[in-house]
Amino acid sequence: ANGAHVPAIVIGSGYGAAVSALRLGEAGIETTVLEMGRLWNEPGGDGKVFCTMTSPDERSMWFKRRTEAPLSTLLWLDVVNRDIDPYPGVLDRVNYADMSVYVGRGVGGGSLVNGGMAVVPRRDYFEEVLPGVDANAMYDRYFPLAQTELQVNTIDTEFYKSTEYYRFSRVAAAQAEAAGIKTVFVPDVYDFDYMEREAAGTAEKSALGGEVIYGNNHGKMSLDKTYLASALATGKVTIAARHQVRSIELDADGNYALTVEHRGDADELIETKRLTCRHLFLGAGSLGTTELLLRARDTGALPDLDEAVGSGWGPNGNVMTARANHLWNPTGLKQSTIPVMGIDDWDNPEARVFAELAPLPAGIETWISLYLAITDNPERGRFTYDAAADKAVLDWSLEQAQPGVAAAKSMFDRINERHGTSYRYDLFGDDRAFADDFCYHPLGGCVLGKATDGYGRLNGYERLYATDSSLIPGSIGVNPLVTITALAERNLEAIIAADFA
Ligand code: FDA
Repeated sequence: ANGAHVPAIVIGSGYGAAVSALRLGEAGIETTVLEMGRLWNEPGGDGKVFCTMTSPDERSMWFKRRTEAPLSTLLWLDVVNRDIDPYPGVLDRVNYADMSVYVGRGVGGGSLVNGGMAVVPRRDYFEEVLPGVDANAMYDRYFPLAQTELQVNTIDTEFYKSTEYYRFSRVAAAQAEAAGIKTVFVPDVYDFDYMEREAAGTAEKSALGGEVIYGNNHGKMSLDKTYLASALATGKVTIAARHQVRSIELDADGNYALTVEHRGDADELIETKRLTCRHLFLGAGSLGTTELLLRARDTGALPDLDEAVGSGWGPNGNVMTARANHLWNPTGLKQSTIPVMGIDDWDNPEARVFAELAPLPAGIETWISLYLAITDNPERGRFTYDAAADKAVLDWSLEQAQPGVAAAKSMFDRINERHGTSYRYDLFGDDRAFADDFCYHPLGGCVLGKATDGYGRLNGYERLYATDSSLIPGSIGVNPLVTITALAERNLEAIIAADFA
Protein backbone atom coordinates (compact mmCIF):
# COMPACT_ATOMS: atom_id res chain seq x y z
CA ALA A 1 0.00 0.00 0.00
CA ASN A 2 1.03 3.59 -0.52
CA GLY A 3 3.34 4.84 2.24
CA ALA A 4 4.26 1.33 3.42
CA HIS A 5 7.64 0.48 4.88
CA VAL A 6 9.19 -2.96 4.40
CA PRO A 7 12.59 -4.23 5.55
CA ALA A 8 13.61 -5.23 2.00
CA ILE A 9 12.47 -4.41 -1.51
CA VAL A 10 13.57 -6.26 -4.64
CA ILE A 11 13.09 -4.47 -7.97
CA GLY A 12 12.34 -6.84 -10.85
CA SER A 13 11.69 -10.57 -10.81
CA GLY A 14 14.26 -12.11 -13.18
CA TYR A 15 17.10 -14.39 -12.10
CA GLY A 16 19.01 -12.08 -9.78
CA ALA A 17 15.82 -10.75 -8.24
CA ALA A 18 14.27 -14.20 -7.74
CA VAL A 19 17.36 -15.52 -5.96
CA SER A 20 17.35 -12.43 -3.73
CA ALA A 21 13.65 -12.84 -2.88
CA LEU A 22 14.04 -16.52 -1.94
CA ARG A 23 17.14 -16.09 0.21
CA LEU A 24 15.74 -13.00 1.98
CA GLY A 25 12.46 -14.79 2.64
CA GLU A 26 14.26 -17.86 3.99
CA ALA A 27 16.23 -15.59 6.33
CA GLY A 28 12.91 -14.37 7.73
CA ILE A 29 13.15 -10.90 6.19
CA GLU A 30 9.85 -9.38 5.02
CA THR A 31 10.40 -8.63 1.34
CA THR A 32 8.36 -6.98 -1.40
CA VAL A 33 9.12 -7.71 -5.06
CA LEU A 34 8.10 -4.97 -7.51
CA GLU A 35 7.71 -6.08 -11.15
CA MET A 36 6.58 -3.80 -13.97
CA GLY A 37 5.30 -6.68 -16.13
CA ARG A 38 2.22 -8.83 -15.66
CA LEU A 39 1.73 -11.92 -13.58
CA TRP A 40 1.23 -14.51 -16.33
CA ASN A 41 -1.14 -16.97 -14.73
CA GLU A 42 -4.56 -16.43 -16.29
CA PRO A 43 -5.67 -17.81 -19.63
CA GLY A 44 -6.93 -15.43 -22.31
CA GLY A 45 -9.99 -15.92 -24.49
CA ASP A 46 -8.33 -18.85 -26.29
CA GLY A 47 -7.78 -20.73 -23.04
CA LYS A 48 -4.03 -20.13 -23.16
CA VAL A 49 -1.86 -17.91 -20.98
CA PHE A 50 0.60 -17.13 -23.78
CA CYS A 51 0.14 -16.78 -27.54
CA THR A 52 2.16 -18.74 -30.10
CA MET A 53 5.03 -17.50 -32.23
CA THR A 54 3.20 -18.17 -35.50
CA SER A 55 0.05 -16.22 -34.61
CA PRO A 56 1.12 -13.56 -32.13
CA ASP A 57 -1.49 -11.31 -30.53
CA GLU A 58 -1.38 -8.49 -27.99
CA ARG A 59 0.13 -10.81 -25.38
CA SER A 60 3.31 -11.17 -27.44
CA MET A 61 5.03 -7.84 -26.98
CA TRP A 62 5.38 -4.96 -24.55
CA PHE A 63 3.29 -2.00 -25.77
CA LYS A 64 3.98 -2.32 -29.50
CA ARG A 65 1.63 -1.77 -32.45
CA ARG A 66 3.42 -4.42 -34.48
CA THR A 67 5.50 -7.39 -33.37
CA GLU A 68 9.28 -7.01 -33.73
CA ALA A 69 10.51 -10.59 -34.10
CA PRO A 70 14.26 -11.26 -34.35
CA LEU A 71 13.88 -12.90 -37.75
CA SER A 72 11.70 -10.31 -39.40
CA THR A 73 11.54 -11.51 -42.99
CA LEU A 74 11.65 -14.68 -45.10
CA LEU A 75 12.82 -14.30 -48.69
CA TRP A 76 12.87 -10.60 -47.81
CA LEU A 77 9.09 -10.74 -47.40
CA ASP A 78 7.45 -9.09 -44.44
CA VAL A 79 5.56 -12.27 -43.54
CA VAL A 80 6.69 -12.71 -39.95
CA ASN A 81 5.43 -9.71 -37.99
CA ARG A 82 1.81 -8.91 -37.20
CA ASP A 83 -0.12 -5.82 -36.16
CA ILE A 84 -1.10 -6.05 -32.51
CA ASP A 85 -2.83 -3.88 -29.93
CA PRO A 86 -0.60 -2.16 -27.38
CA TYR A 87 -0.61 -4.24 -24.20
CA PRO A 88 1.83 -5.26 -21.44
CA GLY A 89 2.94 -8.30 -23.47
CA VAL A 90 5.71 -10.60 -22.31
CA LEU A 91 8.58 -9.77 -24.71
CA ASP A 92 10.07 -6.33 -25.11
CA ARG A 93 12.52 -5.10 -27.70
CA VAL A 94 14.25 -1.98 -26.45
CA ASN A 95 15.57 -0.09 -29.46
CA TYR A 96 18.70 2.02 -29.04
CA ALA A 97 20.40 3.69 -32.02
CA ASP A 98 22.62 0.81 -33.20
CA MET A 99 21.54 -1.99 -30.88
CA SER A 100 18.18 -3.49 -29.95
CA VAL A 101 17.89 -5.55 -26.81
CA TYR A 102 15.27 -8.25 -26.24
CA VAL A 103 14.11 -8.62 -22.62
CA GLY A 104 11.30 -10.42 -20.81
CA ARG A 105 8.56 -8.48 -19.03
CA GLY A 106 6.52 -10.20 -16.37
CA VAL A 107 6.83 -12.04 -13.07
CA GLY A 108 9.83 -14.22 -13.94
CA GLY A 109 11.60 -11.70 -16.22
CA GLY A 110 13.65 -13.25 -19.00
CA SER A 111 12.81 -16.77 -17.85
CA LEU A 112 9.36 -16.35 -19.42
CA VAL A 113 10.66 -15.80 -22.95
CA ASN A 114 14.12 -17.33 -23.16
CA GLY A 115 15.28 -20.66 -24.56
CA GLY A 116 16.16 -21.91 -21.09
CA MET A 117 19.66 -23.00 -22.14
CA ALA A 118 21.45 -23.46 -18.85
CA VAL A 119 25.17 -23.43 -19.54
CA VAL A 120 27.91 -23.20 -16.94
CA PRO A 121 30.68 -21.02 -18.38
CA ARG A 122 34.17 -22.33 -19.01
CA ARG A 123 36.17 -21.92 -15.87
CA ASP A 124 39.17 -20.31 -17.57
CA TYR A 125 36.94 -17.68 -19.20
CA PHE A 126 34.94 -17.07 -16.02
CA GLU A 127 38.22 -16.39 -14.19
CA GLU A 128 39.25 -14.01 -16.97
CA VAL A 129 35.95 -12.08 -16.85
CA LEU A 130 35.44 -12.00 -13.07
CA PRO A 131 38.93 -12.34 -11.58
CA GLY A 132 37.77 -11.04 -8.20
CA VAL A 133 35.35 -13.93 -7.63
CA ASP A 134 36.60 -17.11 -5.95
CA ALA A 135 36.17 -19.64 -8.77
CA ASN A 136 36.48 -22.63 -6.43
CA ALA A 137 33.43 -21.52 -4.49
CA MET A 138 31.51 -20.88 -7.71
CA TYR A 139 32.29 -24.22 -9.33
CA ASP A 140 32.07 -26.32 -6.16
CA ARG A 141 29.00 -24.74 -4.66
CA TYR A 142 27.09 -21.94 -6.43
CA PHE A 143 26.89 -23.26 -9.99
CA PRO A 144 25.61 -26.67 -8.79
CA LEU A 145 23.18 -24.93 -6.41
CA ALA A 146 21.82 -22.74 -9.22
CA GLN A 147 21.40 -25.76 -11.52
CA THR A 148 19.48 -27.65 -8.83
CA GLU A 149 17.17 -24.75 -7.95
CA LEU A 150 16.54 -23.96 -11.62
CA GLN A 151 15.72 -27.67 -12.27
CA VAL A 152 18.20 -27.98 -15.09
CA ASN A 153 18.00 -31.23 -17.07
CA THR A 154 19.45 -32.74 -20.24
CA ILE A 155 17.77 -34.27 -23.27
CA ASP A 156 17.86 -38.06 -23.57
CA THR A 157 20.29 -38.82 -26.41
CA GLU A 158 18.12 -41.59 -27.89
CA PHE A 159 15.17 -39.21 -28.09
CA TYR A 160 17.41 -36.55 -29.61
CA LYS A 161 18.73 -38.92 -32.26
CA SER A 162 15.35 -40.30 -33.26
CA THR A 163 12.83 -37.46 -33.09
CA GLU A 164 11.93 -35.48 -36.20
CA TYR A 165 11.78 -32.36 -33.99
CA TYR A 166 15.59 -32.23 -33.73
CA ARG A 167 16.47 -32.96 -37.35
CA PHE A 168 17.47 -29.27 -37.69
CA SER A 169 19.95 -29.74 -34.89
CA ARG A 170 21.36 -33.06 -36.11
CA VAL A 171 21.90 -31.64 -39.61
CA ALA A 172 23.77 -28.60 -38.29
CA ALA A 173 25.79 -30.64 -35.77
CA ALA A 174 26.93 -33.15 -38.39
CA GLN A 175 28.02 -30.31 -40.68
CA ALA A 176 30.03 -28.64 -37.93
CA GLU A 177 31.73 -31.91 -37.01
CA ALA A 178 32.57 -32.60 -40.65
CA ALA A 179 34.24 -29.19 -40.72
CA GLY A 180 36.31 -30.20 -37.68
CA ILE A 181 34.41 -28.21 -35.08
CA LYS A 182 33.34 -29.70 -31.76
CA THR A 183 29.67 -30.00 -30.75
CA VAL A 184 28.28 -30.30 -27.23
CA PHE A 185 24.90 -31.03 -25.72
CA VAL A 186 23.50 -28.10 -23.77
CA PRO A 187 21.36 -28.56 -20.64
CA ASP A 188 18.10 -26.64 -20.29
CA VAL A 189 15.34 -25.77 -17.83
CA TYR A 190 12.69 -27.08 -20.23
CA ASP A 191 11.38 -30.39 -18.83
CA PHE A 192 12.56 -32.98 -21.38
CA ASP A 193 10.27 -35.68 -19.95
CA TYR A 194 7.39 -33.37 -20.75
CA MET A 195 8.80 -32.84 -24.24
CA GLU A 196 8.92 -36.59 -24.85
CA ARG A 197 5.24 -36.75 -23.90
CA GLU A 198 4.55 -33.93 -26.36
CA ALA A 199 6.27 -35.94 -29.06
CA ALA A 200 4.28 -39.04 -28.11
CA GLY A 201 1.05 -37.09 -28.36
CA THR A 202 0.13 -37.56 -24.69
CA ALA A 203 0.73 -33.98 -23.55
CA GLU A 204 -0.23 -30.62 -24.96
CA LYS A 205 2.47 -29.25 -27.25
CA SER A 206 4.50 -26.25 -26.19
CA ALA A 207 8.18 -26.47 -27.25
CA LEU A 208 7.01 -28.83 -29.99
CA GLY A 209 4.12 -26.48 -30.79
CA GLY A 210 6.15 -23.42 -31.69
CA GLU A 211 6.08 -21.68 -28.33
CA VAL A 212 9.06 -19.90 -26.80
CA ILE A 213 9.82 -16.19 -27.26
CA TYR A 214 6.25 -15.14 -26.44
CA GLY A 215 6.08 -17.59 -23.54
CA ASN A 216 5.67 -21.34 -23.09
CA ASN A 217 2.27 -22.56 -21.93
CA HIS A 218 3.80 -25.84 -20.69
CA GLY A 219 7.09 -27.57 -20.01
CA LYS A 220 9.36 -24.64 -19.20
CA MET A 221 10.50 -24.39 -15.59
CA SER A 222 10.51 -20.61 -15.57
CA LEU A 223 11.26 -18.70 -12.37
CA ASP A 224 7.60 -18.41 -11.36
CA LYS A 225 7.68 -22.22 -10.98
CA THR A 226 11.06 -22.44 -9.22
CA TYR A 227 12.74 -19.65 -7.24
CA LEU A 228 9.71 -17.34 -7.04
CA ALA A 229 7.35 -20.14 -6.00
CA SER A 230 9.79 -21.09 -3.24
CA ALA A 231 10.12 -17.44 -2.23
CA LEU A 232 6.35 -17.09 -1.85
CA ALA A 233 6.27 -20.34 0.13
CA THR A 234 8.47 -18.79 2.83
CA GLY A 235 5.47 -16.64 3.74
CA LYS A 236 7.75 -13.60 3.94
CA VAL A 237 7.72 -12.50 0.31
CA THR A 238 5.01 -10.68 -1.63
CA ILE A 239 5.11 -9.88 -5.34
CA ALA A 240 3.40 -6.82 -6.80
CA ALA A 241 3.00 -7.08 -10.59
CA ARG A 242 2.52 -4.06 -12.89
CA HIS A 243 4.46 -1.97 -10.36
CA GLN A 244 7.22 0.00 -12.06
CA VAL A 245 9.86 1.76 -10.01
CA ARG A 246 10.48 5.24 -11.39
CA SER A 247 12.97 6.69 -8.91
CA ILE A 248 14.98 5.97 -5.79
CA GLU A 249 16.13 8.39 -3.09
CA LEU A 250 17.27 8.38 0.53
CA ASP A 251 14.90 9.70 3.18
CA ALA A 252 15.87 11.48 6.42
CA ASP A 253 16.01 8.17 8.33
CA GLY A 254 18.46 6.61 5.92
CA ASN A 255 15.80 4.45 4.31
CA TYR A 256 15.41 4.09 0.57
CA ALA A 257 12.26 5.78 -0.69
CA LEU A 258 10.87 4.57 -4.02
CA THR A 259 8.39 6.22 -6.32
CA VAL A 260 6.41 3.39 -7.87
CA GLU A 261 3.75 3.50 -10.58
CA HIS A 262 1.00 0.91 -10.55
CA ARG A 263 -0.42 0.70 -14.06
CA GLY A 264 -3.17 -1.23 -15.83
CA ASP A 265 -3.46 -3.08 -19.14
CA ALA A 266 -4.04 0.11 -21.14
CA ASP A 267 -0.97 1.55 -19.41
CA GLU A 268 -3.29 3.81 -17.42
CA LEU A 269 -1.90 5.01 -14.11
CA ILE A 270 -3.82 3.37 -11.28
CA GLU A 271 -1.80 4.82 -8.43
CA THR A 272 1.58 6.39 -7.72
CA LYS A 273 2.99 4.97 -4.50
CA ARG A 274 5.82 5.90 -2.22
CA LEU A 275 7.37 2.84 -0.56
CA THR A 276 10.32 2.79 1.80
CA CYS A 277 12.72 0.03 2.77
CA ARG A 278 15.92 -0.50 4.75
CA HIS A 279 17.63 -2.75 2.19
CA LEU A 280 17.14 -2.28 -1.54
CA PHE A 281 18.03 -4.90 -4.16
CA LEU A 282 18.10 -3.96 -7.85
CA GLY A 283 17.25 -6.91 -10.09
CA ALA A 284 15.66 -5.01 -12.98
CA GLY A 285 18.13 -6.49 -15.49
CA SER A 286 21.16 -4.93 -17.16
CA LEU A 287 19.04 -2.19 -18.76
CA GLY A 288 16.59 -1.60 -15.91
CA THR A 289 19.05 -1.59 -13.03
CA THR A 290 21.53 0.63 -14.85
CA GLU A 291 18.82 3.14 -15.82
CA LEU A 292 17.48 3.42 -12.25
CA LEU A 293 20.97 3.97 -10.86
CA LEU A 294 21.99 6.49 -13.52
CA ARG A 295 18.79 8.43 -12.94
CA ALA A 296 19.42 8.43 -9.19
CA ARG A 297 23.03 9.52 -9.58
CA ASP A 298 22.61 12.15 -12.27
CA THR A 299 19.47 13.79 -10.87
CA GLY A 300 21.28 14.18 -7.56
CA ALA A 301 19.05 11.77 -5.63
CA LEU A 302 21.99 9.43 -4.93
CA PRO A 303 24.92 11.60 -6.02
CA ASP A 304 27.63 9.42 -4.47
CA LEU A 305 27.01 6.46 -6.77
CA ASP A 306 30.18 5.46 -8.57
CA GLU A 307 31.29 7.04 -11.86
CA ALA A 308 31.52 3.47 -13.14
CA VAL A 309 27.73 3.08 -13.11
CA GLY A 310 26.69 2.94 -16.79
CA SER A 311 29.90 1.50 -18.20
CA GLY A 312 31.12 -2.00 -19.03
CA TRP A 313 28.13 -2.99 -21.13
CA GLY A 314 28.22 -5.65 -23.85
CA PRO A 315 25.82 -7.92 -25.81
CA ASN A 316 27.74 -11.10 -24.85
CA GLY A 317 29.16 -11.01 -28.39
CA ASN A 318 25.75 -12.06 -29.76
CA VAL A 319 25.57 -12.47 -33.53
CA MET A 320 22.77 -14.33 -35.28
CA THR A 321 23.31 -15.89 -38.69
CA ALA A 322 21.81 -18.53 -40.97
CA ARG A 323 23.03 -20.90 -43.67
CA ALA A 324 21.18 -22.27 -46.68
CA ASN A 325 21.40 -26.03 -46.98
CA HIS A 326 21.30 -28.16 -50.10
CA LEU A 327 17.94 -29.61 -51.07
CA TRP A 328 19.07 -33.07 -49.93
CA ASN A 329 19.59 -31.68 -46.42
CA PRO A 330 16.15 -30.58 -45.21
CA THR A 331 16.04 -29.21 -41.67
CA GLY A 332 12.50 -30.37 -40.98
CA LEU A 333 8.94 -29.15 -40.95
CA LYS A 334 8.68 -29.92 -37.29
CA GLN A 335 11.18 -28.19 -35.01
CA SER A 336 11.42 -27.99 -31.25
CA THR A 337 11.86 -24.40 -30.09
CA ILE A 338 14.36 -25.46 -27.41
CA PRO A 339 17.99 -25.59 -28.59
CA VAL A 340 19.94 -28.52 -27.14
CA MET A 341 23.27 -28.40 -28.97
CA GLY A 342 26.09 -25.93 -29.32
CA ILE A 343 29.10 -25.66 -31.60
CA ASP A 344 32.11 -25.05 -29.41
CA ASP A 345 35.08 -23.37 -31.07
CA TRP A 346 36.13 -21.40 -28.01
CA ASP A 347 39.55 -23.06 -28.00
CA ASN A 348 40.34 -21.41 -31.32
CA PRO A 349 42.68 -18.55 -30.34
CA GLU A 350 41.95 -16.70 -33.60
CA ALA A 351 38.22 -16.46 -32.99
CA ARG A 352 36.52 -17.74 -29.86
CA VAL A 353 32.94 -18.72 -30.74
CA PHE A 354 30.23 -20.74 -29.02
CA ALA A 355 27.11 -21.02 -31.17
CA GLU A 356 23.78 -22.55 -30.32
CA LEU A 357 22.00 -24.54 -33.02
CA ALA A 358 18.78 -22.56 -33.10
CA PRO A 359 15.44 -23.73 -34.45
CA LEU A 360 13.40 -21.94 -37.08
CA PRO A 361 9.94 -23.37 -36.51
CA ALA A 362 8.26 -21.76 -39.51
CA GLY A 363 5.81 -24.61 -40.13
CA ILE A 364 7.30 -25.08 -43.60
CA GLU A 365 10.52 -26.65 -44.85
CA THR A 366 13.10 -23.85 -45.12
CA TRP A 367 16.42 -25.77 -45.47
CA ILE A 368 17.81 -23.16 -43.09
CA SER A 369 20.34 -23.73 -40.34
CA LEU A 370 20.04 -20.88 -37.86
CA TYR A 371 22.61 -20.01 -35.20
CA LEU A 372 22.98 -17.68 -32.27
CA ALA A 373 26.71 -17.18 -31.93
CA ILE A 374 28.31 -15.97 -28.72
CA THR A 375 31.67 -14.44 -29.53
CA ASP A 376 34.51 -12.94 -27.52
CA ASN A 377 33.95 -9.36 -28.67
CA PRO A 378 36.08 -7.08 -26.47
CA GLU A 379 34.13 -3.90 -27.36
CA ARG A 380 32.12 -2.30 -24.56
CA GLY A 381 29.29 0.21 -24.60
CA ARG A 382 28.22 2.77 -22.07
CA PHE A 383 24.87 4.04 -20.80
CA THR A 384 24.41 7.72 -20.05
CA TYR A 385 21.42 9.51 -18.57
CA ASP A 386 19.48 11.71 -20.98
CA ALA A 387 17.86 14.21 -18.61
CA ALA A 388 15.42 15.64 -21.17
CA ALA A 389 14.02 12.21 -22.01
CA ASP A 390 14.52 10.93 -18.43
CA LYS A 391 16.00 7.74 -19.92
CA ALA A 392 19.25 5.85 -20.16
CA VAL A 393 20.76 5.96 -23.64
CA LEU A 394 23.17 3.31 -24.90
CA ASP A 395 26.37 4.48 -26.52
CA TRP A 396 27.21 1.53 -28.80
CA SER A 397 27.96 1.69 -32.52
CA LEU A 398 27.55 -0.83 -35.33
CA GLU A 399 31.34 -0.82 -35.76
CA GLN A 400 31.64 -2.17 -32.23
CA ALA A 401 29.69 -5.26 -33.26
CA GLN A 402 32.12 -6.07 -36.08
CA PRO A 403 34.73 -8.06 -34.09
CA GLY A 404 31.90 -10.42 -33.16
CA VAL A 405 30.72 -10.66 -36.76
CA ALA A 406 34.28 -11.36 -37.96
CA ALA A 407 34.72 -14.16 -35.43
CA ALA A 408 31.37 -15.75 -36.30
CA LYS A 409 32.07 -15.40 -40.02
CA SER A 410 35.44 -17.11 -39.78
CA MET A 411 33.81 -20.14 -38.16
CA PHE A 412 30.74 -20.36 -40.43
CA ASP A 413 32.90 -19.76 -43.52
CA ARG A 414 34.71 -23.01 -42.63
CA ILE A 415 31.40 -24.86 -42.46
CA ASN A 416 30.18 -23.34 -45.74
CA GLU A 417 33.47 -24.16 -47.49
CA ARG A 418 33.37 -27.74 -46.31
CA HIS A 419 29.80 -28.25 -47.57
CA GLY A 420 29.63 -25.93 -50.58
CA THR A 421 26.83 -23.95 -48.94
CA SER A 422 26.22 -20.25 -48.36
CA TYR A 423 24.61 -17.79 -46.01
CA ARG A 424 20.97 -16.63 -46.08
CA TYR A 425 20.64 -12.91 -46.70
CA ASP A 426 16.87 -12.58 -46.50
CA LEU A 427 16.06 -13.05 -42.83
CA PHE A 428 17.02 -9.91 -40.94
CA GLY A 429 14.92 -7.29 -42.68
CA ASP A 430 17.61 -6.26 -45.22
CA ASP A 431 20.35 -8.20 -46.97
CA ARG A 432 22.70 -8.79 -44.13
CA ALA A 433 23.89 -12.32 -43.40
CA PHE A 434 24.88 -11.44 -39.82
CA ALA A 435 22.45 -9.81 -37.43
CA ASP A 436 24.79 -7.42 -35.65
CA ASP A 437 22.18 -5.01 -34.34
CA PHE A 438 20.25 -6.97 -31.73
CA CYS A 439 21.02 -9.17 -28.77
CA TYR A 440 19.41 -11.53 -26.27
CA HIS A 441 22.16 -11.33 -23.65
CA PRO A 442 22.60 -7.76 -22.35
CA LEU A 443 25.33 -7.79 -19.69
CA GLY A 444 26.90 -5.06 -17.57
CA GLY A 445 26.26 -1.43 -16.71
CA CYS A 446 26.88 -1.89 -13.01
CA VAL A 447 29.95 -4.08 -13.03
CA LEU A 448 30.95 -6.18 -10.02
CA GLY A 449 34.03 -4.77 -8.35
CA LYS A 450 33.81 -1.53 -10.36
CA ALA A 451 30.47 0.15 -9.58
CA THR A 452 30.05 -2.17 -6.59
CA ASP A 453 32.20 -3.99 -4.08
CA GLY A 454 33.00 -7.67 -4.64
CA TYR A 455 29.45 -8.73 -3.72
CA GLY A 456 27.21 -6.24 -5.51
CA ARG A 457 26.99 -3.58 -2.80
CA LEU A 458 26.81 -0.24 -4.65
CA ASN A 459 29.82 1.97 -3.97
CA GLY A 460 28.90 5.15 -2.11
CA TYR A 461 25.89 3.77 -0.20
CA GLU A 462 24.97 1.20 2.39
CA ARG A 463 22.23 -1.43 2.09
CA LEU A 464 21.92 -0.86 -1.67
CA TYR A 465 22.68 -3.78 -4.01
CA ALA A 466 22.76 -4.82 -7.68
CA THR A 467 21.94 -8.53 -8.07
CA ASP A 468 21.44 -9.22 -11.78
CA SER A 469 23.05 -9.29 -15.24
CA SER A 470 24.22 -5.68 -14.79
CA LEU A 471 27.08 -7.07 -12.64
CA ILE A 472 28.69 -9.10 -15.47
CA PRO A 473 31.10 -7.03 -17.56
CA GLY A 474 29.67 -7.48 -21.05
CA SER A 475 30.61 -11.06 -21.84
CA ILE A 476 30.57 -14.53 -20.29
CA GLY A 477 31.14 -16.79 -23.32
CA VAL A 478 27.93 -18.84 -22.96
CA ASN A 479 24.22 -18.16 -22.40
CA PRO A 480 24.23 -16.21 -19.14
CA LEU A 481 21.29 -17.33 -16.99
CA VAL A 482 23.16 -19.86 -14.86
CA THR A 483 25.97 -17.41 -14.20
CA ILE A 484 23.55 -14.65 -13.19
CA THR A 485 21.76 -17.05 -10.84
CA ALA A 486 24.92 -18.54 -9.29
CA LEU A 487 26.52 -15.13 -8.77
CA ALA A 488 23.36 -13.89 -7.05
CA GLU A 489 23.41 -16.96 -4.79
CA ARG A 490 27.01 -16.23 -3.83
CA ASN A 491 26.40 -12.53 -3.24
CA LEU A 492 23.17 -12.95 -1.29
CA GLU A 493 24.76 -15.50 1.04
CA ALA A 494 27.50 -13.02 1.96
CA ILE A 495 25.13 -10.05 2.18
CA ILE A 496 22.56 -11.78 4.38
CA ALA A 497 25.29 -13.02 6.71
CA ALA A 498 26.98 -9.63 7.08
CA ASP A 499 24.39 -6.90 6.49
CA PHE A 500 21.38 -8.20 8.41
CA ALA A 501 23.09 -9.03 11.70
P1 FDA B 1 15.71 -10.11 -16.25
O1 FDA B 1 15.85 -9.29 -17.48
O2 FDA B 1 15.45 -11.55 -16.39
O3 FDA B 1 14.53 -9.52 -15.37
C1 FDA B 1 14.40 -8.16 -15.07
C2 FDA B 1 12.96 -7.88 -14.69
O4 FDA B 1 12.88 -6.57 -14.12
C3 FDA B 1 12.00 -7.89 -15.87
O5 FDA B 1 10.91 -8.73 -15.57
C4 FDA B 1 11.57 -6.43 -16.02
O6 FDA B 1 10.22 -6.28 -16.45
C5 FDA B 1 11.72 -5.92 -14.59
N1 FDA B 1 11.95 -4.47 -14.50
C6 FDA B 1 12.81 -3.72 -15.24
N2 FDA B 1 12.78 -2.44 -14.85
C7 FDA B 1 11.89 -2.36 -13.82
C8 FDA B 1 11.42 -1.30 -13.01
N3 FDA B 1 11.90 -0.04 -13.14
N4 FDA B 1 10.47 -1.56 -12.06
C9 FDA B 1 9.99 -2.84 -11.91
N5 FDA B 1 10.41 -3.88 -12.67
C10 FDA B 1 11.35 -3.65 -13.61
N6 FDA B 1 19.89 -16.87 -21.41
C11 FDA B 1 20.32 -18.13 -21.19
O7 FDA B 1 21.15 -18.35 -20.32
N7 FDA B 1 19.84 -19.15 -21.96
C12 FDA B 1 18.96 -18.96 -22.99
O8 FDA B 1 18.55 -19.91 -23.66
C13 FDA B 1 18.52 -17.62 -23.23
N8 FDA B 1 17.68 -17.34 -24.28
C14 FDA B 1 17.14 -16.08 -24.40
C15 FDA B 1 16.15 -15.83 -25.36
C16 FDA B 1 15.54 -14.59 -25.42
C17 FDA B 1 14.47 -14.33 -26.45
C18 FDA B 1 15.90 -13.57 -24.50
C19 FDA B 1 15.25 -12.22 -24.53
C20 FDA B 1 16.90 -13.81 -23.56
C21 FDA B 1 17.52 -15.06 -23.49
N9 FDA B 1 18.49 -15.32 -22.54
C22 FDA B 1 18.97 -16.59 -22.38
C23 FDA B 1 19.00 -14.26 -21.65
C24 FDA B 1 18.42 -14.31 -20.24
O9 FDA B 1 17.02 -14.46 -20.28
C25 FDA B 1 18.81 -13.02 -19.49
O10 FDA B 1 20.22 -12.97 -19.45
C26 FDA B 1 18.28 -12.99 -18.08
O11 FDA B 1 16.87 -13.05 -18.06
C27 FDA B 1 18.72 -11.73 -17.33
O12 FDA B 1 18.38 -11.89 -15.97
P2 FDA B 1 18.29 -10.67 -14.97
O13 FDA B 1 18.12 -11.23 -13.60
O14 FDA B 1 19.42 -9.76 -15.20
O15 FDA B 1 16.97 -9.84 -15.35
